[in-house]
Amino acid sequence: MILTVTLNAALDVTYRVPALVPGTTHRITEVAERAGGKGVNVARVLHTLGDPVVATGLVGGAGGARIRSLLADERVPEAFVPIAAESRRTVVVAEPNVATGLWEPGPIVTPDEWAAFLGHFADLVRDAQVAVFSGSLPPGVPVDAYRTLIEAARDAGAWTVLDSSGDPLQYGLRAGPDLVKPNAEELAGLVGRPLPRPADAVDAVRALAAGTVVAASFGPAGLLAVTEQVAWRAFLTDPVDGNPTGAGDACVAALAHGIVHDRPWPERLVDAVALSAAAVWAPVAGSVDLSDYRRLRRAVTIKEL
Ligand SMILES: Nc1ncnc2c1ncn2[C@@H]1O[C@H](COP(=O)(O)OP(=O)(O)OP(=O)(O)O)[C@@H](O)[C@H]1O
Ligand SMILES: [Mg+2]
Repeated sequence: MILTVTLNAALDVTYRVPALVPGTTHRITEVAERAGGKGVNVARVLHTLGDPVVATGLVGGAGGARIRSLLADERVPEAFVPIAAESRRTVVVAEPNVATGLWEPGPIVTPDEWAAFLGHFADLVRDAQVAVFSGSLPPGVPVDAYRTLIEAARDAGAWTVLDSSGDPLQYGLRAGPDLVKPNAEELAGLVGRPLPRPADAVDAVRALAAGTVVAASFGPAGLLAVTEQVAWRAFLTDPVDGNPTGAGDACVAALAHGIVHDRPWPERLVDAVALSAAAVWAPVAGSVDLSDYRRLRRAVTIKEL
């Protein structure tokens, strides 16, 4: 199975309004709730693809219980570890063509809770072929958490995939994960200068981490992937219109799927571009329709550089 790790899980709440007017009161007619956090989104997409998956991480309070029950409704297997503090909510106020995000701070995790998670993770990862680490860290979790977890996963024989940002990403990279998926902004943070286009980034990406495959995502411009031997670009000539939130998570799901099914790299990248475009296209952020995915797969261009 594929184990996804979401340490800063969230209850995603979407309020739909015709127009958001600051300084006024809005009566919300439609509230949608979903289990959220980047690794949860990865698990959902993998579940849609039919891959055995388990979502783990930390959840707390009534929000945490709600996250678990929403995952159960979706039949996504989970093994979250409970903490005392309340999981955060990520609120999106959605107007027809604009979305405004209000992100609560993550719950404070105590040292004992973190130690309990490490023990739980060591047990779970023994059954995992791939461990995927996604997103930010809540307060109290050590900044090098991903480094510790990647080392534990590797010791247990699992492939490791990292998708984070800032210091947690920097520290995690030092453990030499098998694959890392920065977006353009995260890549700029890693190399210390902006690299907005895939063509500018090949040399910097190649120098980033020995032994780690880098799949850098550039929004509508697609993916640049660099292994020790080869570099590829995969993209759609006609990007799609829609909601890009969660496209990166669908991309990571496709890459983990490719590892488990031992697909050749070019096919993994074509799948990743098609599946993430299907996520942009889908009406609900981060969901995918498999028929869109199959259709888009035929439209992806892949080039060896
Ligand atoms: N408008 C689009 N049309 C087609 N594909 C897209 C579009 N936007 C993003 N993608 C696909 O999704 C992939 C990931 O997008 P992006 O680089 O925005 O990830 P991200 O910033 O990590 O996203 P996330 O918000 O999920 O973390 C891209 O490499 C591309 O293949
Ligand atoms: Mg991302």
